[in-house]
Amino acid sequence: MASGLASPVLKKLEGKVAIITGGASGIGEATAYLFAEQGARVVIADIQDELGQNVAKSIGYQRCKYIHCDVTDENQVKSLVDFTVKTFGQLDILFSNAGIISNSDQDVLTLDISQLDRLFAVNVRGMAACVKHAARSMVENGVKGNIVCTSSVAGKTGGKKRTDYFMSKNAVVALVKSASKQLGEFGIRVNCVSPYAIATPLMTKLYNKGVEEVEKIYQPFTSLKEKALKAKDVANAVLFLVSDDSSFVTGHDLIVDGGFSI
Ligand SMILES: NC(=O)c1ccc[n+]([C@@H]2O[C@H](COP(=O)([O-])OP(=O)(O)OC[C@H]3O[C@@H](n4cnc5c(N)ncnc54)[C@H](O)[C@@H]3O)[C@@H](O)[C@H]2O)c1
Repeated sequence: MASGLASPVLKKLEGKVAIITGGASGIGEATAYLFAEQGARVVIADIQDELGQNVAKSIGYQRCKYIHCDVTDENQVKSLVDFTVKTFGQLDILFSNAGIISNSDQDVLTLDISQLDRLFAVNVRGMAACVKHAARSMVENGVKGNIVCTSSVAGKTGGKKRTDYFMSKNAVVALVKSASKQLGEFGIRVNCVSPYAIATPLMTKLYNKGVEEVEKIYQPFTSLKEKALKAKDVANAVLFLVSDDSSFVTGHDLIVDGGFSI
């Protein structure tokens, strides 16, 4: 018999604790809001302190903390994980998402190796350091956790420009596949999300154009014509990967591209 009371909506991340790198802006910011809505306590790690603090304040300091963490510095990454466990008691989820793109074309003939080094320090070394220290914490504490890294549609192919970015995003896929093989025995799942172009600050700054202008550049190349990809769409894909909805999925690269790469 119907009780007349609506059943409570189950939150997918109730009781979970998550770290989101690059959580002050764009995809990371949208994911921080979504994880918190779904019951998680979230630590935002970024180098944009004011933006990061604003996101934490707006979510509420009870559920969300901001910490300055430059992912290129392994000691800061270790401190981030230690801070999270000390503050919220455990670490269940890592969304390793911080990333940059070089300003110059970076085609092979003019490749600026110092820019490549800088980009690799964030997109590859930083990603690896985050996966390493999150996984160590999960293994040491017996947590059957979840790790998601942000690759890109640029992680499947080469490019006419931005060689360093394409290289770095291919490397993220290899990191995820290797980590998933090694961490499966501890019940830890490791996956990646590979978005198509989104008009986040990373892209609007690169093109020096507004959100709609950037979206117009990329929209013609997807199959789904009625909308442009938004950060929230990627956040939803990440939520799927870190929740029990994907409990037998590991080593997977979830492409969120509206059919672009078909
Ligand atoms: N926007 C796109 O079109 C697109 C497409 C595919 C993949 N991606 C990837 O998505 C991820 C998020 O990018 P976004 O589009 O949200 O851009 P964004 O610039 O809005 O966010 C990236 C965040 O990473 C932070 N960050 C940069 N260097 C850092 C460091 N050393 N330590 C800690 N944090 C650092 C930035 O401060 C920023 O807040 C990146 O890995 C990017 O490569 C973006």
